[in-house]
Amino acid sequence: MTRITAGRESHPALKQIYNGYYTSLGQDCQGYVCGPLHGSAASLRSASFLPIPQRCGSMTKMKKTYLLKTEEDTRSLGKQLAGEVRPGDVIALIGDLGVGKTTLTKAIAAHLGIEEEITSPTFTILSQYEGGRLPLYHFDVYRVHEEDELFEIGFQEYLDGDGLCVIEWADLIEGLLPAGTRWVRLAWDATGTERICTVG
Ligand SMILES: Nc1ncnc2c1ncn2[C@@H]1O[C@H](COP(=O)(O)OP(=O)(O)OP(=O)(O)O)[C@@H](O)[C@H]1O
Ligand SMILES: [Mg+2]
Repeated sequence: MTRITAGRESHPALKQIYNGYYTSLGQDCQGYVCGPLHGSAASLRSASFLPIPQRCGSMTKMKKTYLLKTEEDTRSLGKQLAGEVRPGDVIALIGDLGVGKTTLTKAIAAHLGIEEEITSPTFTILSQYEGGRLPLYHFDVYRVHEEDELFEIGFQEYLDGDGLCVIEWADLIEGLLPAGTRWVRLAWDATGTERICTVG
């Protein structure tokens, strides 16, 4: 895992890389990053796990962007998120089919100490896992057509509970999620081979 931050006056090649990231994320971001520059442009290009603090437009909240070249990088991010979560937290996962939402959830679960195998809950909407530091409520709302389907299974109680809710396709139910939701967006890079992840 490589951690690199770059200064505003950083190498033009770095700016090009960052701007590429922002474009492929479809975000209207001002591409500058904070902190001192560590490492050359070449080492940045070859780094596989890059937290990049960024300021987006008028938004003051800092987001971090990660380049997830390998599944191991995704698992590293899952470990990091698992270390940060508190009872009652909600992690909202956004991203296309197959981009890695379940893979990230599996890593979060493993690092919460859940030993049970995490499966894709697509056909069940919700799978619950106990035995870890926090209960995990893993939702996949891809096939939810009406909000009532969620409330029938006690969605609000899970949101208000002391576990961790991880919700795949959360953008489909954005209006139902609490203000403190942690949004994690996974996207393909411009070449369609690597994943870029923005954590808000
Ligand atoms: N860097 C990576 N991060 C995550 N998954 C990766 C990576 N590289 C390869 N993969 C593979 O890509 C696939 C991602 O599938 P996964 O089920 O996690 O996606 P998903 O976003 O949950 O899909 P769906 O929208 O169908 O629920 C897995 O087979 C995984 O092994
Ligand atoms: Mg999935």
